[in-house]
Amino acid sequence: KPYILIMAGGIGTRFWPYSRRKRPKQFLDVLGTGRTLLQMTFDRFADIAEPDQFVIITYKKYITLVKEQLPELKDHQILTEPMRKNTAPCIAYATYRIHSMDPNATIIVTPADHLILQEKKFTSALKKAVEAADEGKLITLGITPNRPEIGYGYIQYIEKPNTEVFRVKTFTEKPNAKLAKTFLDSGDFVWNSGIFVWKSKSLISAFEKHMPDIAEVFEEGMNIYGKDGEAVFVSSAYTQVKNISIDYGIMEKSNQIYVILGDFGWSDLGSWNSLYELRKKDEDDNVVEANALLYDTKNSYIKVDGDKLVVVQGLENYIVNETDNVLLICKLDAEKKFREFVTNARKKG
Ligand code: GDD
Ligand code: MG
Repeated sequence: KPYILIMAGGIGTRFWPYSRRKRPKQFLDVLGTGRTLLQMTFDRFADIAEPDQFVIITYKKYITLVKEQLPELKDHQILTEPMRKNTAPCIAYATYRIHSMDPNATIIVTPADHLILQEKKFTSALKKAVEAADEGKLITLGITPNRPEIGYGYIQYIEKPNTEVFRVKTFTEKPNAKLAKTFLDSGDFVWNSGIFVWKSKSLISAFEKHMPDIAEVFEEGMNIYGKDGEAVFVSSAYTQVKNISIDYGIMEKSNQIYVILGDFGWSDLGSWNSLYELRKKDEDDNVVEANALLYDTKNSYIKVDGDKLVVVQGLENYIVNETDNVLLICKLDAEKKFREFVTNARKKG
């Protein structure tokens, strides 16, 4: 029975201000389904996992949100990170901890902010991945790309007959725009979904080889995980490890990476634009979640909470979002600007 490790500690900057540090997008019902992205992630594994197989890892400030949203879980299933160091330390901590209790563990690692439309196909890809992971492979699920997105990892694999598990030849995390276009045009590449499957022992070997500093830090905790000293140990461990994603740290480096292609309606709800694509639109292609009067407005995302009347004229391809004390008006495709928006907004206070 595999463990399901849900990473739920990101900030979701490109969804700002709707997604705020206080409540990042994984804790929001962004699709209007009545379930948050974290809850939808949990639900998606219902066919293959019992509640006790889940482990959620998140930043300390979100522990209450996780408990509220997933009351099915026991406290020991929720791992607390004292600071954000991106996904390599996050996955390392969780993996060493799980391994200390179950050295034969298989782990499915998943982000908490994706949408998967065809859950049956997803489950069947996962089952193949779990089998392949048994042979020591590090598996990622690959997605057929449809645009030169620069926010993803790109995988080139070696085709082989009579198998659905392909050895990865190159893995390139977040290429520049030119390279992304070359990859897309070549037809040889798939996107990294960010959903991984491996045995804890295989991943630990990869950490030892490619990120020995991180391996050493978390290895030290093997006798402490699950005991009283854990929080103190982890606080100190996190000050020692660098901030880096698993994609740069392991996926780009290891030659044990394999990909299973999955056509299961995957979508990364990474930005306003990606959410816009998925939402129901009115006759002018606007997504409207507001008490709004629109004139000559097209292809825009208008989201204002509460009953404030919003009157908009002459906008095309815009976001208008008021959340708490922030009003954002910007181009729908201004994705690259968001980091700057958030940094400078924080300075302004
Ligand atoms: N607990 C914890 N701690 N979770 C984190 C942290 C952290 O420090 N940082 C990120 N996460 C969570 C996010 O909430 C998200 O669910 C997941 O880890 C992935 O992080 P992102 O920051 O969203 O990564 P990305 O979208 O830039 O890139 C990854 O996903 C792409 C597909 O969506 C990479 O794996 C790419 O290669 C991939 O294509
Ligand atoms: Mg992401």
